Amino acid sequence: MKIAIVPGDGIGQEVMTAALSVLDAFGLDIEKVPFEIGFGKWERTGSAITDDDIRLLKECDCVLFGAITTPPDPNYKSVLLRIRKELDMYANIRPFKPLKNVRLPCAGDFDFVIVRENTEGMYSGVEELHENAAYTTRIITRKGSERIAEQACRIAKQRKNKITIVHKANVLKSDSFFRDVCIGVAKKNGVAYHEMLVDAMAYDLILHPSKYDVIVSTNLFGDILSDEAAAIVGGLGLCPSANIGDKYAFFEPIHGSAPDIAGKGIANPIAAILSVKMLLEWAGFQGEAKAVDRAVNRVLEAGIVTPDLGGSYSTHNVSIAITKLI
Ligand code: NAD
Ligand code: IPM
Ligand code: MN
Repeated sequence: MKIAIVPGDGIGQEVMTAALSVLDAFGLDIEKVPFEIGFGKWERTGSAITDDDIRLLKECDCVLFGAITTPPDPNYKSVLLRIRKELDMYANIRPFKPLKNVRLPCAGDFDFVIVRENTEGMYSGVEELHENAAYTTRIITRKGSERIAEQACRIAKQRKNKITIVHKANVLKSDSFFRDVCIGVAKKNGVAYHEMLVDAMAYDLILHPSKYDVIVSTNLFGDILSDEAAAIVGGLGLCPSANIGDKYAFFEPIHGSAPDIAGKGIANPIAAILSVKMLLEWAGFQGEAKAVDRAVNRVLEAGIVTPDLGGSYSTHNVSIAITKLI
């Protein structure tokens, strides 16, 4: 298996070292292809990602990604969004369930997955910036909505056979379109559905996370709800994700490059390590994936944790402790 390795910027570099230490511990037949992509490359070369990078990424079986900096500069085009679009990875899958020994801000015993549309919506890239106004076109297509709803139904069938469709159809025509398409797909698949307006969802998710199982939503709503879900689970440093299309797959923590802690060696590597777990599951290494999960939970139980979880261990300490249990 050929895996593209993209550490990225800030803590991306630090958590990638930890993720690779765990992946390497299995001794699998893996060719790792390193890539320099991101803001650092842009500062160094004037280009954050090249056409050649995209071509070479497509030659790999999948991508393991750290995190990148995306500055709020209208002249800077997010490389993450470009990769998601060009590799047509339309589903961003973000699982959330409690981990051992992590203090939760609200009631425990939940287990839900956010299935976020990953290529359109507010991230269409169709934008205009004028002197006195700026426009972003929110594009929701039938194809985009159908395939994300199909993905949510596929996941639901392996779980409780129900989905929650999250939208703002009371205000946005594009969302009433998204809702109708999702309902059609759920009915066709024999999957039970329930719908929530996104504002009410933000409120209820934090109060009653155990009510939810598979949550499907548009790109920006899914982005926002998944950071909220990260808080429910105990922190961004714990949450992995998979970007999946029909051909390519890409695994990354939900968190960003965390400039506030970058370079200090204290980033929590668990989100990146659990992204390796998702990669292993996708690649058919179910036993290895379970071993990662077990090792992470044992290290959490032992209280070997970084400062975001109240501990005083370094990224390296946590990663070594997890690697030793593999
Ligand atoms: P962030 O996710 O980088 O950080 C938010 C907060 O969570 C910070 O306080 C940070 O210290 C903390 N945090 C995040 N990951 C952590 C970890 N592993 N361990 C301990 N604490 C952790 O979000 P931000 O600060 O809004 O964004 C910083 C940069 O990252 C921005 O340029 C943004 O565009 C980019 N970003 C990239 C990705 C990605 O690469 N997938 C995701 C989100 C944000
Ligand atoms: C994420 C991030 C990205 C997004 C940014 C960095 C482009 O927040 O992966 O959740 O908005 O999708
Ligand atoms: Mn996000």
